[in-house]
Parts: sequence; structure tokens; C-alpha cells
Amino acid sequence: MPRKPIVGGNWKCNPKTLEEAQKLIGEWKNQVPLDKRKIDVFACPMMPHLLKVKLPMEKLGISACAQNCSKTGEGAFTGEVSAAQLKDARVQWTLLGHSERRTKYGETDEEVAEKVSQALAAGLKVVLAIGELLDEREASKTDEVNERMLKPVVAKVKEEDWSRIVIAYEPVWAIGTGKVATPEQAEETHAAIRAYMAKAVSEDVAEKVRIQYGGSVTVDNCAELIKKPNIDGFLVGGASLKASFMEIVQKSTPPPVLKKPKWSKITDLNPTTKGFNCMLKCTKAAAQVEGTEGVFEAVCGDDTGMCTVSFRNKDLCDICKEGASLRMQNAAVRMVKGGYMRLVVDKWSAFKPADEPVDFEVKTSNDVSSVEYELVGES
Ligand code: PGA
Repeated sequence: MPRKPIVGGNWKCNPKTLEEAQKLIGEWKNQVPLDKRKIDVFACPMMPHLLKVKLPMEKLGISACAQNCSKTGEGAFTGEVSAAQLKDARVQWTLLGHSERRTKYGETDEEVAEKVSQALAAGLKVVLAIGELLDEREASKTDEVNERMLKPVVAKVKEEDWSRIVIAYEPVWAIGTGKVATPEQAEETHAAIRAYMAKAVSEDVAEKVRIQYGGSVTVDNCAELIKKPNIDGFLVGGASLKASFMEIVQKSTPPPVLKKPKWSKITDLNPTTKGFNCMLKCTKAAAQVEGTEGVFEAVCGDDTGMCTVSFRNKDLCDICKEGASLRMQNAAVRMVKGGYMRLVVDKWSAFKPADEPVDFEVKTSNDVSSVEYELVGES
């Protein structure tokens, strides 16, 4: 099973006003909507903004994520917000262990692990950030540092709870510097993190855990990075404060899988056939049926037989011209009566010119002497 991509925006201590935060959400709304079935998206505004923009964000399919939570529960802990308090505020996600928390506020690997444990116990989902400093990379210590940061978390988290953790690999030298890791550098490190997870937790968790890349991700570099097999999305800082964040989301969404429809032959159909597609050639152009008002009929067929297509939408006459190749998609057999088969499609648009020509010369006879197509639904 391929891993579902996940992209997050880390707003850090930005923007200055709530109005600006709301404006940004408004700009996201004007972009191409995201497809929640194919990608998970979250954003991390700072706490007072988070609770104000949460609903408008959720309407766009974007989950609210806190930037941090406490390693303790409720009580005499001035300045802290507990995991359970986040959960109570209907916040589903929290970011933990961001390098700015580690390097500027002295959070240790053990403290981050304790926070992860608190967050999971409160029912939150966690984005766990890890990553090496520049001198650690230069000393070839990248994998060692990532393992050191993961180890205390591995010790505290039950195997089944890894489904609620996303790892964000963020090399500190790439954060806010414009110096993005190359796709090869990022892929190599992501693969090493996955290999460590296989060894330290299980093959299954290693296969399923999503690993985001973070550090100077932009609209221009994300498409190359997401092609790498072990990169499952991004944690975006600076570029998430722009309308074009939604373009990063778009570029990280897997492209639609285009499946060629399987074509059915008229003779293959029986009264219970549903969801079939046929390719037909129009052998006699559509014309109004004598004695009727607004009923049109064309003669069509595939290489197994002929049928009559009747419809009330005059616009279909334009496509039912002699010699035209047509296709009917997602149709169902409604009834078979006296050699007549009634075929139903639920959208007019499902009966349209075929992309490829339907070619048959010999009109063979078949069991169904005539087929009547009934077109119903939207015009
Ligand atoms: P950046 O920040 O994209 O601005 O480099 C990333 C992060 O800190 O998560």
C-alpha cells in the first residue's frame, strides 16, 4: 500500500496579526481545492490564531496542528499547554521536537519523547521533527543524530501507536536558509530513518510510517523531492505563509490513475449487467422520430450487433452523426423485453464521441435483435 502523502505548514511565530492569518486562509480558499482522499494537510498557526482559524481551515480540509505541547499534564506549570487541553480544544495534531525548540529552548531528546508520550496518551497525532546540524552533517553524523533523537521515542511508544506519528526529517542547516537538501540527500536520509525504524520497531511500522522532508521547501523544489520513494510529504515553514502553499499541496498530490475502460460487447450484456462501457458506431444519423415531439433516434452498433439509441436531448443529435464513433460509459441494463434491451446511463455526458475510432464493416446478427438506449439524468 503506498503511503498517503502529508504536507504541513509550520507558521512558527507568524504572522503578527489575526487579520493577516485570516487573510492567508482566505487566499488558500481561492486556490485549487485539495483532495482529502489523496493527501493529508495540516497547518500550525501559533496558539491564539490556531483556535480562531481552525474552523475555516478545516472547511478547506486542513487539520489544525499545535506547534508544541507540554511534557506535563495540567497544574502549576505556568506558560504550558497540556496535550489534553489541546485535545479538549478539538485540536487533533501537535508538532513536537522542532529544531527551534531543541536548539533555542533547550528541549532534550528525552523531553521530546516525554511530550510524544503525553500527546499520544491524550489521543493526539504527532509530527515528530528530527534532524542534524550543519557540523553534524559535515562530520557524517546525520544518521547517528536522527537515531539518537528517535531512540527515546521508540522506547516510549507502543508499536500500534506509530500509526499516529509522522516523522519530519528537517536538516537544521536547511531550515529557513534557502539551502534545500538535494532530492538524493533527502532520500538517502529518509531511507536510513526507515531502516532504523525497521530495526528498532518493526518492518511493518517502517513500511507504514510517513516521513516528511522539511527545510527550505518551495513550490519550485517540491515536485522533484516528492518523486523520491521515501519522501512522503513536507513540513513547510516560510513558504506556508503564502497563498502558493496550496500549490505545494497540489504538487505533492499523487496524479490521477487513468484507467482505460474495459469495453463490453452488446452480446455480453444480460439483464443484471451494471457499469459497463460500450463503443458504438453510429450507422444512421439521429433524426426526430415521426409522430413524436422531441424524441430522437439513431441507429448504432458495435461489432456484435445493432441497436437503436433514442433520446430527448436534441444536443445529442450533434454527436450521433453517421459514421461517428461513440462511447457509452457506466451504463446499466434496465430491462430486456421481447428482444429489446434498455440501457441506462446516469449522465448525458457519459454518451459522447469516442477518443478512438470504432471500426466495423460487417454488421453481424446477434441474439439481441435491437437495443434501445434510454438516456436519463443530467443534461
Ligand atoms: P523553512 O522551515 O521551510 O522556512 O525552511 C521549515 C521548518 O522549520 O519546519
